Amino acid sequence: MFAENRKDVTYTAVVLAAGSGRRMKSDLPKQYMDLSGKPLIYYALKAFQDSPIPEIVLVVSKGDIDYCRREIVERFQLDKVKEIVEGGNERAESVLNGLEASSGEYVLIHDGARAFLTQDVITRMMEGVLEYKAAVAAVPEKNTIKVVDSENYVKSTPDRSSLWEIQTPQAFDRELLLNSYKKIIQNCQGEFDYSKLTDDAMVVEKAGLVIDGRSPKIKLIMGDYQNIKMTTPEDIPYGEFLIQSRQG
Ligand code: C5P
Repeated sequence: MFAENRKDVTYTAVVLAAGSGRRMKSDLPKQYMDLSGKPLIYYALKAFQDSPIPEIVLVVSKGDIDYCRREIVERFQLDKVKEIVEGGNERAESVLNGLEASSGEYVLIHDGARAFLTQDVITRMMEGVLEYKAAVAAVPEKNTIKVVDSENYVKSTPDRSSLWEIQTPQAFDRELLLNSYKKIIQNCQGEFDYSKLTDDAMVVEKAGLVIDGRSPKIKLIMGDYQNIKMTTPEDIPYGEFLIQSRQG
């Protein structure tokens, strides 16, 4: 039934690669860092290139558009990349720019640093967003999490069975996400602090917009424990291992 539905709707994958990657401590921005012979950003783009999603919008840092077109998109023949746009100083600004350049009815927002996105996760997100309008990839938390005060004294311990670790893709009805961003930016007095928006789901949660007569609840969809965000130098050997093991 999903395969039938999917023919009638359009999707855009927005791949974010405009971060500074400071935590990777590398001279080259982390999104272009070599991972098993290819730039890190290649892997997320290739996952969407090989998926049923027809359009990819790539968001990159100021000044990197020509480099990415030549060295990533053309070199690796990623012809689903229809737009390459400039990001902003914070992730949320980059998402907004990507959304403005997207034409799909549904969008999958994905961190370009999550190089190990599988076709199974993409399919689950495409199905999930059709059903729920707002769907986020996540995995059940394996560790005990503590809430602390500013001096790292423990304040409380949430029940682990109710905690999930959030990943990307985060998938939404495009109008819902765009209007949610606009609403919370408008509602804020004075300068808007984009740094407080650490994921897209929280924008939809806070805005509480109504579509089709209801305020959509955000549904967590099973992600993948290997869908890690390459963030610090310790992640590199594990990343190389994952690529080699997937190549068989
Ligand atoms: O900084 P963080 O690890 O949360 O970044 C997640 C993703 O968002 C990365 O792929 C990064 O390149 C992207 N990002 C962006 N624009 C920013 C900050 C982060 O596109 N200003």
